[in-house]
Amino acid sequence: MAKIILTGDRPTGKLHVGHYVGSLKRRVELQESGGYDQIFIMIADAQALTDNADDPEKVRQNIIEVALDYLSVGLDPAKSTLFIQSQVPQLCELSFYYMNLVTVSRLQRNPTVKSEIQMRNFETSIPVGFFTYPISQAADITAFKATTVPVGEDQMPMLEQTREIVHKFNTVYGETLVMPDILLPDNKACLRLPGIDGKAKMSKSLGNCIFLSDTEKDVQKKIMSMFTDPNHLKVEDPGQVEGNPVFTYLDAFCRDEHFAKYLPDYDDLEALKAHYRRGGLGDVKVKKFLNKVIQEELAPIRERRKQFEQDIPAVYKILEEGSRKAEAVAAQTLADVKKAMKIDYFADQALIEEQAKRFREG
Ligand code: TRP
Repeated sequence: MAKIILTGDRPTGKLHVGHYVGSLKRRVELQESGGYDQIFIMIADAQALTDNADDPEKVRQNIIEVALDYLSVGLDPAKSTLFIQSQVPQLCELSFYYMNLVTVSRLQRNPTVKSEIQMRNFETSIPVGFFTYPISQAADITAFKATTVPVGEDQMPMLEQTREIVHKFNTVYGETLVMPDILLPDNKACLRLPGIDGKAKMSKSLGNCIFLSDTEKDVQKKIMSMFTDPNHLKVEDPGQVEGNPVFTYLDAFCRDEHFAKYLPDYDDLEALKAHYRRGGLGDVKVKKFLNKVIQEELAPIRERRKQFEQDIPAVYKILEEGSRKAEAVAAQTLADVKKAMKIDYFADQALIEEQAKRFREG
């Protein structure tokens, strides 16, 4: 069976380093691995509108930001199909049919939806579109016959729900849809990168992000202002590594060769952590090292971004061509689905003849 990847992001803001270590970097590695027959990367604007219906301009403006982020991290339109969700109308059609296979109470139990409803104060007025977005996400995944969905941990309930829909569909209508697997980051620190303020999640609304498009200076300023261990007041004090976002970032970003290059007094991260725990290692030194490590990772991304920014119409062209290609693939799946559901009347010559015979013979 073909190995196919589908994943995507809501265009509600620029992408940040949490997206990068949690998903984008992995996507590029998967793209370069050559182990996949097709890769689809979707800008989920229709999903973004489910909780931003009153702010279409925000979604519209962020399409290009996300596209630039994709291209600058190294997603290559020659190898991966980059497309916009709303431009593939088959996804809506699939969602409409999948809705019959999911109960309201099952949607209410989806932990991600639950916490998002709380976060947005939607308790008393949940838009139906928002409430049902896990179903539309199942359409996104199945439309491309995706076998592999590389996403962050927060998307686990979505994948669970998609798998249930696939199972139900195939049970009721016959083997049609492909069962997808989630692919989580293998580095634990990358599962959910904390904000620079130490809050559990890096998020635009919390204002604690390092964006991929930040300048070198911005990144440095943000890193030097990072929250650390609040009890590590003097250099001599023993410090705590667990829950200290500076070390979580190092867990996510640094490799042994960074020590040889920037901090040769230490062999590896374990040695640095041990010193911090013992006391005698100041936050500034650790932050300066982290800054070098992150800048090394972000510099080529920033360079590529600059080049793509020179030709914005070409970036839209990439998305347009990708969307067309995605539409053709989704149309095939929709045809399979309609056939399985017995709503392919005009393509079913046997049906037409059978009905003709029935009426002829009375
Ligand atoms: N829900 C994802 C997010 O919050 C975006 C998304 C939409 C997605 N459809 C998808 C991710 C399908 C993976 C597969 O960013």
